[in-house]
Amino acid sequence: MQKITEKTLVMVKPDAVVKGFVGKVLTYFEDQGLKIVAAKMVHLSKEEAKKFYYVHQQRPFYESLTEFMSSAPILAVVLEGENAISRVREIMGATNPKEAKPGTIRSSLAENVERNAVHGSDSPESAAYEIPFFFNQLELCSYNL
Ligand code: CMP
Repeated sequence: MQKITEKTLVMVKPDAVVKGFVGKVLTYFEDQGLKIVAAKMVHLSKEEAKKFYYVHQQRPFYESLTEFMSSAPILAVVLEGENAISRVREIMGATNPKEAKPGTIRSSLAENVERNAVHGSDSPESAAYEIPFFFNQLELCSYNL
C-alpha cells in the first residue's frame, strides 16, 4: 500500500468516557505510533450530534445515536500518521463489537453496536468534514515523535 501521511478524527464516545476508558483508548493508538496532534473534551448538544452524523440521517438508528452521543462528553482527537485513516479503523475493529477482532478497541471496550466506545473517520472526505467540525487550524499541532 502507498504510504501517505494523513490526519483522522477520533472520538472517545460517551460510554467509554463515563467508564474512565479515555486513557486506555488513546494508548491503543499511541502504541501503534499514531501521533495526537489535537484533543478536546466536548459535551455535544443533540443538534450538534445530528450535524456531525448528518450522513446517517435516514438510518433508523439516527435518533438513538444522536441522543447517546449528546448524553455525556466525548473526547475529540486528531491523530496523524502514515495511512492513519485505515490504521485507526483497524485498531478500532468492526462497528459491531460482536464482529470485532480480538485485540481491537471495540472487541475489548465496547458495549454494543451503538455504544461502541470510539469513532474514527471512514475516508479522507469524512476526515475533511469531521476535523474542522471540532478544530481550527491553530489547534492542530505539528511536532516530531
Ligand atoms: P460510528 O463509527 O461512530 O459511525 C456511526 C455510528 O452509528 C456507529 O459508530 C455506531 O455508534 C452507530 N451505529 C451503526 N450501526 C448501528 C446500528 N445498526 N444500530 C445502532 N447504532 C448503529
